[in-house]
Amino acid sequence: MYTQELIATAKAMVAPGKGILAADESYGTANKRFEKIGIPTTEEKRRAYREALFTTPGIGEFLSGVILFDETIRQATKDGKPFTKLLLEAGIIPGIKLDAGAKPLAKSPDETITEGLDGLRDRIAEYYKMGARFAKWRAVITIGNGIPSHRCIDTNANALARYAALCQEGGLVPIVEPEVLMDGDHTLERSYAVHHDVLKAVFDALYVQGVEPDQMILKPSMVISGQDCPQQASVEDVARLTVKCLRERVPAAVPGCAFLSGGQSDEVATAHLNAMNATFKDQLPWKLTFSYGRALHQAALEAWKGEDANISAAQKELYRRAKCNSAASLGQYAS
Ligand code: 13P
Repeated sequence: MYTQELIATAKAMVAPGKGILAADESYGTANKRFEKIGIPTTEEKRRAYREALFTTPGIGEFLSGVILFDETIRQATKDGKPFTKLLLEAGIIPGIKLDAGAKPLAKSPDETITEGLDGLRDRIAEYYKMGARFAKWRAVITIGNGIPSHRCIDTNANALARYAALCQEGGLVPIVEPEVLMDGDHTLERSYAVHHDVLKAVFDALYVQGVEPDQMILKPSMVISGQDCPQQASVEDVARLTVKCLRERVPAAVPGCAFLSGGQSDEVATAHLNAMNATFKDQLPWKLTFSYGRALHQAALEAWKGEDANISAAQKELYRRAKCNSAASLGQYAS
């Protein structure tokens, strides 16, 4: 029923030079980041912060979409304009986080399964009415001693696929996000092997559930050395193995992959994206762009500090990161 709309939205989400801002931190994550900087963890501060981000002058030049949290999609500017309306006026598509977070996997306490499937069809209908046109669901895969297990990979892949099918049925483009964490001391090669297994399981499950590849966006992590691995891979090697893995596992009909930043520094996340697009531009059947959270707006949060007087400084930080990543999505970033 929504086929043409879904195809058009998915394409627009990865339009040339554009990426997606992940501003969908749940209460817990948003509050933890506020507390670190001494910002009060109130609903009003969370609203004010999102208003500061979304009203950044000119940000629509670099952003196709913004992922919102349930609290945020119901909020408005202090002058009463709903955030969904504000974003649409800036040419930015509103999206919504649909998962209910990663919980311990039964009988495997070091692994997680992402919850949120119960009642999902009704929630999708409500968010569509509120103006959302795409959604996100994040599965979390940890690399460690003897993990990830096949059971963890398959269970998460199945949940991602069931979520994605419900989204397409209800008119939302699913962002399918299987995040392989960079926590740990694993090598680049191990990261590649795990990404390979995870993406295989995810696309098999998507196929089984009847998810149309041209009506979704993949949000992958990059193939990267574990952050405690003594041997840190070069930018070139990360770009090469990430592109190799995606080319082996992601159908060409998928319009784009929009990476998460996952704890990489701002500059490194930009450099990796740029290297992929600059080096492999003739070998990519899909767009490669950004859907960063921290690597787009952590610097803005630190500049804002919860004070109205710092809004313009915060907006400058977001604008700068968005502009750099826009250039990187075209392979034209020069540090
Ligand atoms: P990071 O870029 O901070 O990893 O966040 C992206 C995101 O949406 C995680 O689900």
